Amino acid sequence: MAGHTLTWFHALLFAASTLAHPCPLSVAHIDFADCWTQIPTVLIDTIASLNLTTLPPELHCSRLNVPLDYSKPMSAPNNNITLGMAMYRPQRPKGVLYYCPGGTDPGAAVAWQVALGLNSDSMPNFDGLLDYDLLFMDIRGQWSSNNLSVDVNTLAPLVGAYPSNENEFNAFHSAAQLVFQSLQNMSSPPGALSHLGTRETVQDYEQVRIALGYEKINFLGSSYGSYRNAQYAATFPERVGHFALDAVTPHGMDMADQVKFDIMAVNRGLLRADAYCQNNDTCPFHDKGRGIVPKVWQSILARAINGTLIACDPSAAANCTTYIRPWEIQEALAGALSGQPNFPLILEALALATTGNAALFFAGSSVPPIVEAWGVVELCSDTALADKSYAGYQKLLEVAASVDTYHINQSISILTQLVCAAWPYTVPAQPPLKLNATMLLITASFDVDTYVTVYSPGQKRLPIQNPYNVPTGLLAGDVDSSG
Ligand SMILES: *[C@@H]1O[C@H](CO)[C@@H](O)[C@H](O)[C@H]1NC(C)=O
Ligand SMILES: *[C@@H]1O[C@H](CO)[C@@H](O)[C@H](O)[C@H]1NC(C)=O
Ligand SMILES: *[C@@H]1O[C@H](CO)[C@@H](O)[C@H](O)[C@H]1NC(C)=O
Ligand SMILES: *[C@@H]1O[C@H](CO)[C@@H](O)[C@H](O)[C@H]1NC(C)=O
Ligand SMILES: *[C@@H]1O[C@H](CO)[C@@H](O)[C@H](O)[C@H]1NC(C)=O
Ligand SMILES: *[C@@H]1O[C@H](CO)[C@@H](O)[C@H](O)[C@H]1NC(C)=O
Ligand SMILES: *[C@@H]1O[C@H](CO)[C@@H](O)[C@H](O)[C@H]1NC(C)=O
Ligand SMILES: *[C@@H]1O[C@H](CO)[C@@H](O)[C@H](O)[C@H]1NC(C)=O
Ligand SMILES: *[C@@H]1O[C@H](CO)[C@@H](O)[C@H](O)[C@H]1NC(C)=O
Repeated sequence: MAGHTLTWFHALLFAASTLAHPCPLSVAHIDFADCWTQIPTVLIDTIASLNLTTLPPELHCSRLNVPLDYSKPMSAPNNNITLGMAMYRPQRPKGVLYYCPGGTDPGAAVAWQVALGLNSDSMPNFDGLLDYDLLFMDIRGQWSSNNLSVDVNTLAPLVGAYPSNENEFNAFHSAAQLVFQSLQNMSSPPGALSHLGTRETVQDYEQVRIALGYEKINFLGSSYGSYRNAQYAATFPERVGHFALDAVTPHGMDMADQVKFDIMAVNRGLLRADAYCQNNDTCPFHDKGRGIVPKVWQSILARAINGTLIACDPSAAANCTTYIRPWEIQEALAGALSGQPNFPLILEALALATTGNAALFFAGSSVPPIVEAWGVVELCSDTALADKSYAGYQKLLEVAASVDTYHINQSISILTQLVCAAWPYTVPAQPPLKLNATMLLITASFDVDTYVTVYSPGQKRLPIQNPYNVPTGLLAGDVDSSG
């Protein structure tokens, strides 16, 4: 968990709108490039260490020029950008499957991982689908798709405890405005910042479909990738083949509800950690009975609040003068309970903290990476805020407090509200999407990324009420620190 920070984009859900009148385009043309010139940034070291002399013939890398602003022709001044993507292409594909990972995860890199057999826990296993064309695109504004630049030092003031009074709220707002100014100043083409939402991304997906010549596409989206593929389906219903939405991020949900569900999901995650402890005798608190994990958390938080919880490597603990702050340990726990929680590691971190050392929860201070800015841009492009004022923010804090049983006090939606209140462009509101297609929805009650209360037409589905009834362990998808 050390080094873990809750990324902006871990779990996100927001309103977006479809473009009313996209310009008719000439037929999109896809250029297949030499893959050696398009190695994804995140894989450069891996590829170098593999000492490859040839690349698998199924791996294809491509670039596609598209309009920045789809309401104008690509030939208008400063109105083209280049999308980067990679494909796994068998000899006689049975169709095409798009895969879109979450948030700012690099897309094109997954094609390389598939082609080179570099599977990992954080990606789907595509075995059994290798007779399809598999398409992996970097989202516009990110990675190899006309990525944005920013002075990352402008991001640092956004990290920390949420503002606790109006002055702090205003200071945060000014800091967020500077981030957007820096992005505007440093990114190209000029004006890029205002056309980097999911409205545009779904048009990009459509251009790729046209360029590849498929009538329909199949689409697997994870986390925010499911937000994108659902919006594609709503925008181009006649193009929908088989769609799967994993860890569904909903459209058009009220911000107060989002905040409430964020906190409730973390609460369930903590109870699952407790269930794991009861089910596994390697847990340091195994013999202390049900409810021990939340109890331990409360005592640790109390020490963080009174400023006595150190955060140094245990071997140097005797001389440690670094103390973890409440928001740091709250953020670390909320982050650790999202995604695929590593319960053995979480329990180990809690056990060490009971000795007065929170080192395993401590990320240390560092300047956020540029992907955080990319994520914010897409999120703010997609999110219409009903009330950007201090009073609106306070209301969200109240909602959070009303369900924050364990004082974890962290909601990605509160952060979204704070940052996106400074977004300099108008965002059209959008009601929840109406999708007229049968799709596979994959959700989980304990996952911070996932809301089981949405996407259930005609039937309100409640979260699993009892987290102790959810299976734990490797077979239930939990990551085991030993492997
Ligand atoms: C790659 O080649 C270098 C230099 O020949 C060698 O030192 C290294 O061990 C090789 N790496 C692998 C993974 O084979
Ligand atoms: C992209 O825009 C630039 C700047 O307006 C222009 O020089 C270039 O020719 C355009 N490229 C395409 C493919 O339209
Ligand atoms: C951003 O784009 C530039 C220019 O194409 C490229 O050199 C750089 O590697 C990209 N950055 C990342 C992190 O992919
Ligand atoms: C939660 O955050 C708010 C805003 O920073 C703060 O006022 C409150 O004291 C925090 N509560 C806990 C339990 O940390
Ligand atoms: C952006 O550019 C403007 C005009 O050059 C300048 O006044 C401003 O300080 C810059 N802001 C940032 C955050 O880079
Ligand atoms: C801080 O909290 C811990 C745990 O509740 C307690 O043992 C300790 O005495 C407190 N220290 C101070 C200075 O309040
Ligand atoms: C703590 O500091 C003292 C004095 O500098 C040093 O002798 C000792 O080895 C340090 N202890 C640890 C555990 O680092
Ligand atoms: C939904 O899809 C079905 C099958 O394609 C079609 O017959 C029906 O008209 C559609 N309904 C709406 C409201 O679009
Ligand atoms: C119990 O936890 C240990 C690691 O903490 C893990 O290796 C083992 O697989 C777990 N057992 C079960 C039944 O989940």
